[in-house]
Amino acid sequence: MIDQTLLPHRFVIATMETHRQTAEAIRGMTIRGAPAIGAAGAYGLAQAAAEAPEGDEGRDYIRRAEELLRSTRPTGHDLFYMLDRVMRAIEGSGGPDRADQALKAAERLVEQSVLRCRKIGEHGAELIQDDMRILTHCNAGWLACVDWGTALAPLYVALRQGRRARVFIDETRPQLQGTRLTAWELAHEGLAGEIIADNAAGLLMRQGEVQIVITGADRIAANGDVANKVGTYEKAVLARENKVPFYVAAPASTFDLSCAAGEDIPIEERSAEEVLFVHGLNDMGEMTRVRLAPEGSLARNPAFDITPAELITGLITEFGIIQASPEAIGKIMGRSADEGAR
Ligand code: MRU
Repeated sequence: MIDQTLLPHRFVIATMETHRQTAEAIRGMTIRGAPAIGAAGAYGLAQAAAEAPEGDEGRDYIRRAEELLRSTRPTGHDLFYMLDRVMRAIEGSGGPDRADQALKAAERLVEQSVLRCRKIGEHGAELIQDDMRILTHCNAGWLACVDWGTALAPLYVALRQGRRARVFIDETRPQLQGTRLTAWELAHEGLAGEIIADNAAGLLMRQGEVQIVITGADRIAANGDVANKVGTYEKAVLARENKVPFYVAAPASTFDLSCAAGEDIPIEERSAEEVLFVHGLNDMGEMTRVRLAPEGSLARNPAFDITPAELITGLITEFGIIQASPEAIGKIMGRSADEGAR
């Protein structure tokens, strides 16, 4: 996997040799973004199946590995979606071939994930006009997925169709996924992006500079409420106030019908250190950590927030653009993953 903690300053492919290393990579955000976390989880469980001894002892080993992987990041639903399916493949296998079956299931899920994101791009591209100014939050591009991305996929498909968007990139404190990752990714796609301070979005919307907002999602409840990177909710409120359309792009693997509404979605709280310090390059070109706050300062660090369905203009899915309503969500969730990936 690409080590996302080092981007944009160093491009390093990190290799995780065991399921424990993979779990640590998810927890520590070497890999991040809901679909990418899901893919890593699927392969992590396949690793565990390959590591496990035969028989009952092996079954316990795999169950403990699943629990470890499930405990890494609580909010994004793709992780649980992928783990459930790989686990089913393991349980459905004869025993001796469970490692093979687990790997095959992981590979199939990951292929589906790429195709779903590509479809999201195709449907979402219909919203993108040439030279359109788009605001996005966090990183919901190919770095956050296996390929294409969710929120950024429509921009990439539109680009291949000859329409070039311009992007306002929210810096996305405290981990700065916008500054570090989206800015880097867009530059690789040859798309123009300008990083803005998180608190600049209101002014730009009011001045008519933002024509559409597109974000990704970590989990979507049955009623259409969306959990995404903290700060998304504020952008949705500002978009409503300023009559800017607000879209959320996500595959069906991000929807969780067991959560009736946003308040049922667990919100990850991360270390206060992420708020109190920043990481970056010093003048000597070394990666370094810098303290921002006075010694002894306390901080809170909720990593996600909930955007209520009524603030969302539409959900861009692999099945098309749908309303953030229980009826529309119910309909797409009744369709098969293969159909969505076709
Ligand atoms: O904490 P992160 O960086 O994993 O959070 C990522 C996001 O919030 C993304 O917007 C979301 O996962 C969608 S990614 C296609």
